[in-house]
Amino acid sequence: MKIAIIGTGYVGLTTAAVFSELGNEVIGVDIDQDKIERLKKGEVPIFEPTLAEYLDRNSKAGRLSFTTSYKDAVDGAEVIFICVGTPSQSDGKPDSSFILNAAEEVAKNLKSYAVMVIKSTSPIGIGQQLNDLIAKHTKEDFDLAACPEFLREGTAVEDSFNPDRIVIGTKNKKAEKILLDLHKPLPGERVLCDIKSAQLIKYASNAFLATKISFANAIAIICEKTGANVKKVMQGMGIDSRIGSSFLNAGLGYGGSCLPKDISAFIALSSDLDYDFNLLKSVEKINNDQIQNFVSKITNSLGFESPKNLKGVKIAVLGLAFKPNTDDIREAPSLKIIRLLLDSGAQITAYDPKAMENTKKVFPNIEYAKNPYSAATDANALVIITEWPEFREMDLEKIRKNLKKPIIVDGRNIFEKNRMAELGFKYLGIGI
Ligand code: UDX
Repeated sequence: MKIAIIGTGYVGLTTAAVFSELGNEVIGVDIDQDKIERLKKGEVPIFEPTLAEYLDRNSKAGRLSFTTSYKDAVDGAEVIFICVGTPSQSDGKPDSSFILNAAEEVAKNLKSYAVMVIKSTSPIGIGQQLNDLIAKHTKEDFDLAACPEFLREGTAVEDSFNPDRIVIGTKNKKAEKILLDLHKPLPGERVLCDIKSAQLIKYASNAFLATKISFANAIAIICEKTGANVKKVMQGMGIDSRIGSSFLNAGLGYGGSCLPKDISAFIALSSDLDYDFNLLKSVEKINNDQIQNFVSKITNSLGFESPKNLKGVKIAVLGLAFKPNTDDIREAPSLKIIRLLLDSGAQITAYDPKAMENTKKVFPNIEYAKNPYSAATDANALVIITEWPEFREMDLEKIRKNLKKPIIVDGRNIFEKNRMAELGFKYLGIGI
């Protein structure tokens, strides 16, 4: 099957890798000429485990190519995936203009029947708008569908080959059959529904994941007030198969390019429908409050009362990426925490295994260390923001010796409190 993929970002490239690996002829199109040139040379513009290998292998096998020409991409394609970005606008709603532009370009170049599939997370109801727009620009027969993605950064390729479910949103039987055939080699339960339900499955899933995280963070506050341990409480809750143990880790809340954007979009879209989504507003508020609570915890641990003056205080920050195994710092808690600490006059030395280059663009003037030990040297406290595996393996004796004061404030609860006390640390986590 010939497949066109519009947009060569995270979702587009992963989709291209999967369907070319499954033997289809895939062509990726993007308006960014520079990006396409790099992809043609075999350079992958994002860090995602195994993605480069898949793209390379399938390009060499002649099954995968890239172009800036909609004409070349759309010509003869039976399925066209729209994978362009839907960035947040100032009111929180997603900006659909990239989707609409892409659909218009596709329509203008359509020469035979195709199924156009929305993969981007987009406002419910965009289906009708797209149908009208495409019909205006082509006389060819086409069908519209929505197949949302549920990829996690860092495991995007693996997730795509082993999905829990494949959602196919279309009420048209011909389009449904084409999409079922295309996805046939992949595991996972099939959910067949209409376009709007498919779109809502994506929003509702992300909203529910965020709710679990904020719930755990709210319970963490109760744990701190009562002396209970949130790790044990979540373990005890998660064993119940009706609840499930994933996404119950209390910490610094959710960040990244998806959850924060999708939660505020869902609140704004619900408000347009005259529904005040108070539950999600609270989820978002708890998430935002985690940052200020954590900064207060740092200043309190140093013996300062809030509001505080941290002038001359050196703080070692471990972890900048929004989660481990990525260099992505979009909506990362680290950025907000560093900003607040700098505003209080603190001096920051940061270390992250992958995300320092990206962070230098935001904070060119803080210090960057080459490992956790040099970050800790002469610092008044060490702060853990991302739970990279290498931090769990640190030589804590060496860290304690390097620190000016043996204080660790851990936003991800990676160590056992009792063991840290035995090692001579003043150790503060979230809800433990
Ligand atoms: C997420 C969804 O998982 C994915 O299905 C969707 O398509 C895109 O958004 P991703 O942004 O890659 O994927 O990150 P994910 O691994 O889900 O983590 C999201 C955030 O939640 C991270 O900041 C993480 O640190 C935080 N988190 C996760 C917690 O704070 N506690 C948890 O228990 C789990």
